[in-house]
Amino acid sequence: MGMAYFTGINLDAFRNFTRTAASFHPGCNVFCGKNGAGKTNLLEALYFLSLGKSQRHSPLKDLVMHSKTQFSIKAEYFASGAAHEAAATCSETERSFFLDKNRLPSAADLVGVLPVVSFASEDLLLAAGLPAERRRFMNILLSQSDKIYFLCIRQYNKTLQQRNAYLKNNGSNARYLAVLRDLLVELGGEIRFKQQGLIENLIPQARAALTRISGGEKLDIEHSAAALATAGEHRKRMAEESLQCQARETALKKSLFGPHRDDLRISINGRDVRRFASAGQIRSVSLALKLAGVRYLREKQDSGGILLLDDIFSELDDERSERLLECALPENQVFLALPKCPAFALPQDRAEFNIAAGAIRPLV
Ligand SMILES: Nc1ncnc2c1ncn2[C@@H]1O[C@H](COP(=O)(O)OP(=O)(O)O)[C@@H](O)[C@H]1O
Ligand SMILES: [Mg+2]
Repeated sequence: MGMAYFTGINLDAFRNFTRTAASFHPGCNVFCGKNGAGKTNLLEALYFLSLGKSQRHSPLKDLVMHSKTQFSIKAEYFASGAAHEAAATCSETERSFFLDKNRLPSAADLVGVLPVVSFASEDLLLAAGLPAERRRFMNILLSQSDKIYFLCIRQYNKTLQQRNAYLKNNGSNARYLAVLRDLLVELGGEIRFKQQGLIENLIPQARAALTRISGGEKLDIEHSAAALATAGEHRKRMAEESLQCQARETALKKSLFGPHRDDLRISINGRDVRRFASAGQIRSVSLALKLAGVRYLREKQDSGGILLLDDIFSELDDERSERLLECALPENQVFLALPKCPAFALPQDRAEFNIAAGAIRPLV
C-alpha cells in the first residue's frame, strides 16, 4: 500500500496567519493553542487544498486576512511514492489551484487528489442533524473517490434547481417538466446506486469503530431508498415515484422525488440516534462514520488516509477519547487540534506545535 501525507505547509495572509510555515510528521500532529489562536484556521487551510473550499462553508472573502486582498496556501505532500505540491491563490472573487505548479482548470480537479477526511464542530450534526448533513457526507466521500459520481451529483443539483425554479414560477409546460424529470431520474438512479454501495462498504467499518470507541454499542445504518440491485432498477423505481407525486409537485411547487430527499437512518442498539442518543454518543457515531469514511478512501486510492480532527475530545470521557485516537492513528496521518492537553497520553511518536499570534511553532 502507498502512503499519502502532508509534509509541510506555507500560509500567506490566510485568516489570522500573516506568513507562516510548518513541517509535519507523517503520523501524529498535535496543535495546541488558546481559543481563537488559529487551530481551526490551519485545518481549514489543509481542507481547502483537498476539497477546494472551506469545511465551514465560508465565502472566500472571509478566508482572506482582514486588510489583505488575497491569500495563498502551499502544501507539500507525499503520495504514490513521490513528493508533490498543491497550492491555491485566491482573492474574494478569483481562485487558482495548482498541482506541482501546473494550474488546474478548476477547483473540481483537486477533489480526490488527497484522501482527506475532516471532523470539525459542523460535523457534530452528521449523525443527528438534518438529513442534508448525511447527504453531504455521502456526496463528499463519493466525489473524492469517483469522478462519475462527482459529475452526476453536480448535474443533478443543477437540473433540480432548474426544475424547482420552473415549478415555483407556476411553469406548466408538461413536456418541459417531463424532460427535466427524465434527466433527474437518469442521474438520480446512478446516484442512489452509488450511495448504497458506499453505505454497504461503510457499515462494517463504522460499526467496528463505534463498538471500539464506546466499548460495545451496536451501530446500524440504513439508506432511506429501497435497496435495489442495479442503477437501472433505481431509475425505474424513481420514475414510478415521480409519477406518483406529479399532482403534489404542482401544488407544492418543487420536485418531490429523488436522492435530494433521501436520508440515512442511524441507530445505536436499535434506537434512533436522533431521538435517543446523548451528546457524547452522537459525537461518537459521527466520528465512527468519519473513520469508516477515511478507510473507504484508503481502499479506493490504495493509499494512507489523512484525518483533520478539530477539538474532537470535548464531551467524550477519557476512555472514549483514548480508544478513539487508537482507532484513528494507524494507517492515517492525523492532525489534532486541541484547546488543552488531554488527560490521557498522546503517542510518543508525534510532532507537537503551539499556535499563537498567527504563528505555528514546533514543540517536540
Ligand atoms: N479573515 C481573517 N483575517 C484575520 N483574522 C481572522 C480572519 N478570519 C478569522 N480570523 C481570526 O481567527 C481567529 C479564530 O481562529 P480559529 O482557528 O477558529 O481559532 P481556534 O484556535 O480556537 O480554532 C479569530 O480570532 C478570528 O478573529
Ligand atoms: Mg477551533
